[in-house]
Amino acid sequence: MTISLKVNGVLHTIENIDENTPLLWIIRDVLDLKGTKFGCGKAACGACTLLVDGEAVRSCSYALKFANGKEITTIEGLGTPENPHPVQEAWVEEIVPQCGYCQPGFMMATAALLEKVPSPTDEDIDQNIINICRCGTYYRMRKAIHKASAIKNGASPTPTTKTTNT
Ligand code: FES
Ligand code: FES
Repeated sequence: MTISLKVNGVLHTIENIDENTPLLWIIRDVLDLKGTKFGCGKAACGACTLLVDGEAVRSCSYALKFANGKEITTIEGLGTPENPHPVQEAWVEEIVPQCGYCQPGFMMATAALLEKVPSPTDEDIDQNIINICRCGTYYRMRKAIHKASAIKNGASPTPTTKTTNT
């Protein structure tokens, strides 16, 4: 079967592939985008979360055939160093990651949430961001989600300062 999908704005055609292959394998092993992580492999942890037409999807359990003709966004396409996504800005400001393994999945889930709920409450976060972090960065993530919402809604990120000894 031949599958066409756009990943981070680039169109890819994949031929002679089992249509039931998990999307995650295509993203990581065929397209070599390693930001999307493998955790549990059964839609339980969220490490593999990416966006399909703007919806957060657990790509370890999402067959390639469902991505045919769709637009995929991975963590590599969320923003750029010059123009980071509000979620990325907030994550840096709150110094969220510990080991970092789960973080791309959380950030993609958050990006999807903010498109639907621009100013999420703690309850919205609890109901929608249900990924797992083995390092327990949940408190910092919650702060970062609120900050990302504020940045996206027009607040400036916190200015950084530099002190030089003279
Ligand atoms: S690796 Fe996909 S949900 Fe855990
Ligand atoms: S930061 Fe280590 S698993 Fe989440």
